[in-house]
Amino acid sequence: MASEHGPQSRIVGTGAYAPERVLTNRDLEKLVDTSDDWISERTGIKQRHIARDDEAASDMALIAARRALESAGLAPSDLDMIIVGTISGDVPMPSCAAYLQRKLGAGPIPSFDVSAACAGFLYAMSIADQFVRTGVHQRILIVGVELLSRLVDWEDRTTCVLFGDGAGAAVIGPALGDGRGVLSTRLYTDASLTESLCIPAGGSRERITPEGLLQKRDKVQMVGKDIFKAAVKNMTQASRAALDTAGMPTDSVRWVVPHQANLRIITQIAERLDIPLERFVINIERYGNTSSASIPIALDEGIRDGRIKPGDTVLMCALGAGVSWGSALVRM
Ligand code: ACO
Repeated sequence: MASEHGPQSRIVGTGAYAPERVLTNRDLEKLVDTSDDWISERTGIKQRHIARDDEAASDMALIAARRALESAGLAPSDLDMIIVGTISGDVPMPSCAAYLQRKLGAGPIPSFDVSAACAGFLYAMSIADQFVRTGVHQRILIVGVELLSRLVDWEDRTTCVLFGDGAGAAVIGPALGDGRGVLSTRLYTDASLTESLCIPAGGSRERITPEGLLQKRDKVQMVGKDIFKAAVKNMTQASRAALDTAGMPTDSVRWVVPHQANLRIITQIAERLDIPLERFVINIERYGNTSSASIPIALDEGIRDGRIKPGDTVLMCALGAGVSWGSALVRM
């Protein structure tokens, strides 16, 4: 996964979308036994966006994808692959990427989902990088989209306050030979923590039964403390590995775009990497944890508001259910 002869692929354009409806911590106080103070202090989240009832993951992905294509100056017909990182696609089968391909009006190109939860966007980026690197594909749309509001138990205060809906996208294309592009990516999974963050029912192992529905076994179940510790440890390790693989020192990083799961996780990673928090793109207060969408939403925001400039070295890292995690180092 290392770059041996300079970057072979680059980020050509980015786009993002969040649903219009906003749910604040004050709104949540009316739903569950929680408070704005608890959520703000323990997570950094102030509000999150929630999809309309008639909005599916592919609808949100479509808007983010169109914005990414527009910023890349490309049309859907220019794409030769679509990879969507999601665990909340439109239906169990077929893929969210297939629906997205149809809605975009792209050609009969390979389109598939990657299941790596919050790390889904970085998994998609790494896969896209390999395809561009080998020359098999030239322009790949990668998307992180998540509609977790459908998958959380709105009576469980330990999870429902954390998540939000959204989509982010990027177009990956060939590097231009000017040193800009994807410098390294690293991917990992440690299955020892699968039960600490999962949706137990609804797959091939456990059918959804009336009793299961009562026990909310079709909703996200999480042992927050286990995931917190794994996130700090592994996102730090993956960040160091991405830097080592590219042979770059920590102080070469201009911006860190971390998965936005909890401000305390981000703060601890900043301390361990010894990178000032001011160099992290953070928007968790407005979006909550949008899982695979969180990195591309923050990346797009940083680019559009002028913080992330051409030539800046950007480090991305994420961890989610699996637990799966990863990192990417990109010169923009
Ligand atoms: N409001 C008020 N009180 C609450 C709430 C709430 N929303 N949630 C929990 N509490 C209570 C608990 O019941 C507990 O009370 P007790 O002491 O009387 O038992 C107390 O607050 C402390 O709870 P903890 O679970 O110890 O709180 P913690 O500081 O660990 O924070 C949190 C919980 C925010 C979930 C944290 O553990 C976390 O962020 N974990 C990581 C989550 C994450 O990163 N997920 C990413 C992956 S998502 C994906 O892949 C789809």
